[in-house]
Amino acid sequence: MRSAMTTDPWDFGINRELQMVEKKLRDIVKSREPVLTDASLHVIEAGGKRIRPTVTILAYKALGGDDTQKIVDVAAAFELIHSATLIHDDINDGGSTRRGRQTVYKKYGLHDAIVTGDFLFVKAFGLAGVFDKVVVQTASNACAALAEGEVLQNKFRHKKNLTVDAYLEVAERKTAQPIHAGAVVGAYLAGGSSDQIQALGKYGLDLGIAFQIVDDILDFTGDEKKTGKMVGNDLREGHLTLPSLLAIKSSDEVRECVLGLISQTEPPMASVKDCAKLVVKSGAIEKAKGMGEYYGMEALGHLGCLTSSKYSSSLRSLVQAVLERDS
Ligand code: IPE
Ligand code: IPE
Ligand code: MG
Ligand code: MG
Repeated sequence: MRSAMTTDPWDFGINRELQMVEKKLRDIVKSREPVLTDASLHVIEAGGKRIRPTVTILAYKALGGDDTQKIVDVAAAFELIHSATLIHDDINDGGSTRRGRQTVYKKYGLHDAIVTGDFLFVKAFGLAGVFDKVVVQTASNACAALAEGEVLQNKFRHKKNLTVDAYLEVAERKTAQPIHAGAVVGAYLAGGSSDQIQALGKYGLDLGIAFQIVDDILDFTGDEKKTGKMVGNDLREGHLTLPSLLAIKSSDEVRECVLGLISQTEPPMASVKDCAKLVVKSGAIEKAKGMGEYYGMEALGHLGCLTSSKYSSSLRSLVQAVLERDS
C-alpha cells in the first residue's frame, strides 16, 4: 500500500475511502476453502496502485456523491476484477513476479490460480450486482472488453503485423475499458448528467491508454524493485508493444533484432536484454512517452465539465502521476 504522506504523488485526498476499500477486499475473500482466501490475499495484501478504485471514488466525489460506503463497495468490485485479471494474465504471460511477490500460479499452482481468479470475478459481481442495470452492464461490458483485448493481443503474439492502431485497440480493450467503467459508474452513481458521465468515461478511457503505454515503457526501462514485476517480459513472451513497434521503424538492425526475437518461443534472456537495449537506444521510448502524454492531455481535456473541488483537482493530478510513475 502507498504511504499516506502528503508528498506522495499518489495521495489524492481519499485515503480514508481507500482504507475502507482495503477492508472490504480483505473481508470479501473469506472462504470455506483456505487456499482461495490465501491466494486472494497474496495478491491483495501485496498492495498495488489502486488506480481503478481511485478513479471510481474520485469521479463519484467530484460530482458531489456523498454515500461513501456505496462507492467503496463499487470501487472494491473494480479492484477485485483487476486482481482476477492479474492472476489470469500472469498465467498467460508466464509472469513469475507480481507486486514484488511470486505470482499466484507459481505459488499455488495452475489449478488453484485459475479458480482463484474466477472466485475474485464472482465476488466482484456479488458486490456490484446489487446496483441497477447501468452499473451491472457497465462492469460486465468492461470485463467482456478485457477478454476481447486479451484475445486480440494473443492473435499478434510472435507476429510481425501489429500496427499502432491495433496496439491502441488492445490497450483500450484490456486496460482502458475497465478504467472507463469505473469512471462511468462513479459519475452515474453520483447523479451526474449524461454529459458529465460521458465526459468522465472519456477521461477514464484516455487515462487508461496512457496508463498502458507507460506500463509498456516500464517493461523496457523499469526497475524491477519498483515495478514488482519482471522487466523485458513483453519481448520475451513474443509481444510487440508501442516502444518496440516504434523502434522497428528506426533501423534495419533494430527491426531484425526485435522481429527475430519475438518470433521465438523461449528466447535466451541475454538476447532479450540485448534487444531491449537496442529499443531503448533507438529513441522509441521518448516517442512512446510523447504518445502517452498526448493521451494524458486528452484525458485532462474531458474534465472541463466539473466544478472545481479538491476531487476534480485530484483527477488532474492523477494524470500527471500516471505519466510520471515508475511503479
Ligand atoms: C497492471 O496493472 C496491468 C496493467 C493493466 C498494465 P497495474 O499497474 O494497475 O497493477 P497494480 O494494481 O498497481 O499492481
Ligand atoms: C495488462 O497488460 C493486462 C491486463 C489487463 C491484466 P500487461 O500484460 O502488460 O500487464 P503486466 O505488465 O503483466 O502487469
Ligand atoms: Mg502481463
Ligand atoms: Mg506490461
